[in-house]
Amino acid sequence: MIIFEESFSKVNWGPDEAKGDSQLRKYFVKIPEYEGIKSGDYRYIIGRKGTGKTAIIEQIANEASSEYNSFVKYLSLRNFPIQTIRELKDRSLGNKSQFVPIWTFLILTELSKLIVSDSSIEKTESVIDLKNFIKINFPSNLGFAETLRNLKSNENKVSVIVKWLGFENKSAESKEAITTVHFQKASEILLNLIKGVNSSCNFYLLFDELDEGYSANDKNLNLLLLSLFRAVENTFLDLKDIINIRPVLALRSDIFNNLEDNDLNKLDDFIINLKWTKEYHASYSIYDLINARINASINVEDPKRAWEQITINNDKNIPNRINNLWEFIYNRTFERPRDIIKYMKYCAKQNPSGKLDFKTVRKAEIEYSEWFYREFRDEIQSHLPIWQESTQAFIKLNKGVITFDEIKKELENDSRIVNYLKNNNKNHEDILEILFEFGLIGTLSDSNRWFFKYKDHNLPFNHNQKMIIHFGFTRKFRMKVY
Ligand SMILES: Nc1ncnc2c1ncn2[C@@H]1O[C@H](COP(=O)(O)OP(=O)(O)O)[C@@H](O)[C@H]1O
Ligand SMILES: [Mg+2]
Repeated sequence: MIIFEESFSKVNWGPDEAKGDSQLRKYFVKIPEYEGIKSGDYRYIIGRKGTGKTAIIEQIANEASSEYNSFVKYLSLRNFPIQTIRELKDRSLGNKSQFVPIWTFLILTELSKLIVSDSSIEKTESVIDLKNFIKINFPSNLGFAETLRNLKSNENKVSVIVKWLGFENKSAESKEAITTVHFQKASEILLNLIKGVNSSCNFYLLFDELDEGYSANDKNLNLLLLSLFRAVENTFLDLKDIINIRPVLALRSDIFNNLEDNDLNKLDDFIINLKWTKEYHASYSIYDLINARINASINVEDPKRAWEQITINNDKNIPNRINNLWEFIYNRTFERPRDIIKYMKYCAKQNPSGKLDFKTVRKAEIEYSEWFYREFRDEIQSHLPIWQESTQAFIKLNKGVITFDEIKKELENDSRIVNYLKNNNKNHEDILEILFEFGLIGTLSDSNRWFFKYKDHNLPFNHNQKMIIHFGFTRKFRMKVY
């Protein structure tokens, strides 16, 4: 007999960061493109903070580790020696390409290590040569950082066996001798050797945490990332008909959008933009995602409606304009999984007994709103230095609905904002547009409907429309609207 435990406090919501979450497979919700990532059709995952980029990478790594024919390398840019890679750029190439050769070399060495780690692979001459290459140059298998360090201490050179350079007229003995070549030459050799590999296995190269230490004004960092996209795509195209190379690269959307390069358009078909919805039982349904988490930790009678069974969804204390508890909570998020999970965890901290009610949700809203504001800060701060002053202007107005003239007047009262606008040749609309972009404000259409950027990515900002502060912030700002 199954015992139902329909109590909110019994649910284990799990970590709100997917990295290293050993439970993830129990409640991972497959997005429609998931199999396409595994088959190499999609290679780039773009989304805001907390939309589930790492979750996908983590799930792929989890699955692959239990498949006999899959090999995975996780490549993080956290603690990555950025300075060293900068020193390794190729100055003879145009700006956008300077880092492509070094990235390509790093990708090819990681791929080679994966290939030779397959002990059941057919031992063609190429495989034996690849093994030797790794053994001579990167014996400790420490990944990116080691490769860069070795390159640097060897003045950009790596060791190769003379015969790989293709000198036909040499004696057999001298063909086996070791010599050094520039890493770009070594990339050519590696590419050729890999082309001689015969394997039907999948080789995953998973890139995450590229946003560590990101600053929008660091042009060099932008070039570095842009080069990485190019190197990944070129290598994939070079090798896709030969072996199952599966690069997957996750990047925050604000950083991606800042890369500004026409070439990125070419990647459009291979990009996934993570965007969730509040619809029930649909693709990208956050409702389903929450249900999956509930069902992973407790037994409820109707798993498809798990939410309704651990909450008083129709609590009569909910204000009339709001349909139910789910909607109240949802309206305080940017439709991102982490937002809802975080809200649930703050509710759980209140130790509610039985089902979750509106009163508890309101209490938890205080901490949630603080957290939500910090998440917003993390995203916007490198794009708008005066984000705090601009936000303050809205707080000072303390109104539910705001017109352009009202906020403009308030912005003009702050000398730091005035100076910023003057020094950067920008106007008030530019500030509001960034605040709109990151979801602090939404606009009211002529038909009296609210529009937020996170609901419609293609929505242009129209400063002639009235504005509203997002509900997720109103508690933090002590505004009396909900
Ligand atoms: N597809 C999914 N299925 C289940 N949980 C998810 C999914 N996507 C995201 N989550 C959860 O949402 C939270 C944030 O996801 P994460 O991957 O860490 O975000 P990001 O890397 O985009 O900042 C984590 O708790 C994660 O488990
Ligand atoms: Mg992440």
